[in-house]
Amino acid sequence: MSRRSAVIGGNWKMNTTLAEATELAAELTTRIGSVGHPDVVIFPPFPNLHAVDTVIRDTRLQLGAQDVFWAEKGAYTGEVSAAMLKSVGARWVIVGHSERRHIIGESDEVVNAKLRLALSTGLDVVLAVGETESQREANETQYVLASQLGRSLDGVDKPAGARLVIAYEPVWAIGTGRTATPEQAQAAHAFIRAWLGDRWSYEVAAGTSIQYGGSVSAANAFDLLAQPDIDGALVGGASLKAEEFASIVMAQRELLENDRSDTIGS
Ligand code: 13P
Repeated sequence: MSRRSAVIGGNWKMNTTLAEATELAAELTTRIGSVGHPDVVIFPPFPNLHAVDTVIRDTRLQLGAQDVFWAEKGAYTGEVSAAMLKSVGARWVIVGHSERRHIIGESDEVVNAKLRLALSTGLDVVLAVGETESQREANETQYVLASQLGRSLDGVDKPAGARLVIAYEPVWAIGTGRTATPEQAQAAHAFIRAWLGDRWSYEVAAGTSIQYGGSVSAANAFDLLAQPDIDGALVGGASLKAEEFASIVMAQRELLENDRSDTIGS
């Protein structure tokens, strides 16, 4: 039985020129523009947000940004505020993506500040967490997840108003084609859900969507999404191909419909 909604995100990362972005958005509109369950959120690069918004505005696709700055406004050359994101149609933002943690050097404290500002501005937030390969090999996965969650959510009240989604993205699975097995992913998701239960309450934990990210493809999506604690996916490379992304969305949709008919039948 499904306890919560599912969210499929397409993180385009640093890909797509303006023309490519609007073309991809238009193709997605044709294929999955009327799908409301799961929630489908696309995350184009900053310069393409407004143009993509104009393409998807009258569809059920939702718009998100890949990052946000932690201050409201001011002398922060090159940064982008939550209010700016909202003004160009973004409803969602990703914080704590491993590429920002490991390539740009963002700390949990920075992630925390961004997350708090985004939630207080009314953006829905995807908080990404995940262990590196060496941390997994050293049996530190749970420690790393707990530490990233604890520090990133420091001072955050149980989500009210804006939505908080957690994305479990093992670093070793991102862009490598080495997807976590459904069992590995399920174990990490169950741990994250239990952590949320300790942090807030059983109800909050049960109602929080936890996405899996890391080499999700049309071929492996169904088996991952069928796990009881996996409530959607954050898709990188495969989200740049409209047909493949649409089939990941439809895999989630099929699972939600199966859940619904189980519930109605029971
Ligand atoms: P890939 O799907 O390309 O592995 O990327 C996953 C990711 O980082 C999504 O945020």
